[in-house]
Amino acid sequence: MTIDLFNTDCMKYVATLPMGYFDLVIADPPYGIGRDWERRNKASQRFSESYDNTERPSPEVFDEIIRVSKHWIIWGWNYFTDILPPTNYLIVWDKMSNCNQTFHYSKAEIAGTDIKIPCNLVSIPWDGYRMGEETGTKKIHPHQKPVALFRWLLTTYGRRAKRIFDPFAGSGSLAVACKQLGREYVGCEIDQTFYKAAYSRIFDNPPPQPLEEFLPFMGNQKVD
Ligand SMILES: C[S@@+](CC[C@H](N)C(=O)[O-])C[C@H]1O[C@@H](n2cnc3c(N)ncnc32)[C@H](O)[C@@H]1O
Repeated sequence: MTIDLFNTDCMKYVATLPMGYFDLVIADPPYGIGRDWERRNKASQRFSESYDNTERPSPEVFDEIIRVSKHWIIWGWNYFTDILPPTNYLIVWDKMSNCNQTFHYSKAEIAGTDIKIPCNLVSIPWDGYRMGEETGTKKIHPHQKPVALFRWLLTTYGRRAKRIFDPFAGSGSLAVACKQLGREYVGCEIDQTFYKAAYSRIFDNPPPQPLEEFLPFMGNQKVD
C-alpha cells in the first residue's frame, strides 16, 4: 500500500496521468466562500497566511480530475452546480451540530457523485470541539473533514476502489482513512503550510528538508 502526498498544484500532477488512472477521486475543493465566511466569523483562526478560500477551481480543473479517475465524489456540490456535470446522486453529511447555535457555518455539507447510489445521508459529529472519535485532537486546517467521513465514503462508495486520488488534500484526513483501510492514495496540496502539517499528521514525521521535487509517478514516502 502506498500513500503519496505531493506539495503541488493538482493540475500539474494530473497532466502526467492517463485517463481513468485512479479508481476513485474524492475531491474537497475550496468552495470560494472565504470572504463571506470571515465576515460571519470575526474571530476565525487563520491557519495559513496564503489560503483565503476566495476562489473556486475553474471548470478545467474539474474536467481534469474527473478525466483521470473511473469514478468521482466532489464535495461542495451546491457551490459548483453551474460547472459540474449534472447528477441525481447526492451525499449529505449531517454534522450533528447544536441546532440552537447561531448559523456561522454549514450544519451539513453536500457532495455529488457519479456512483449510482440514491441520495444518501451520513451523520458524523463535527461541531466546534465535538469531533467524534477525533475529540481532543488539534485541527490543522480550517476546512478539515473527519477521518470517519472519508472512511464511510470508502467503505460505502469505494468498496472495490484500490487507487484513491485526493487533489485538494488539506489536512490529509482522506490519506489517514486510506492508511487505516489499506488503500493506495495520492494527494496534492498546493499550500506549503498545509502540506507540511498534513505530511506530519499522516507519516508521524515532518517532511524532508528541502522538500522533495514533485516527480510524476514517484512517491515521497511509502507505507507498508
Ligand atoms: C477544502 S480544503 C480540503 C480540506 C480537506 N478535505 C481536509 O479534510 O482537510 C481545500 C484545499 O485545497 C488546496 N488547494 C487549492 N487549490 C489547489 C490546487 N490547484 N492543487 C492542490 N491543492 C489545492 C487548498 O490549499 C486547501 O488546503
